[in-house]
Amino acid sequence: MSHSEVHRAGDAPIKVDLVEGETYCWCACGRSNTQPFCDGSHQGTGLDPVVFVAQKSETVFLCCCKQTGTPPLCDGSHKKRE
Ligand code: FES
Repeated sequence: MSHSEVHRAGDAPIKVDLVEGETYCWCACGRSNTQPFCDGSHQGTGLDPVVFVAQKSETVFLCCCKQTGTPPLCDGSHKKRE
């Protein structure tokens, strides 16, 4: 497996209650032990987390399979298997 390859961190998204104005750091590499958020494990992979600020307080489903086309949000891609 290539070093810069994205890992599948889970087979379903994680439900998160976002708080308006808070900054979040979504793990894009799939290596974090604190899914769906970045824990710094991407170091050395050439991959970076997606940092975003919640525009409003809402419940969302954050992608864990890391195949989503709409990061950080789940788009159902975890149901597709290669
Ligand atoms: Fe995956 Fe930081 S640990 S992006």
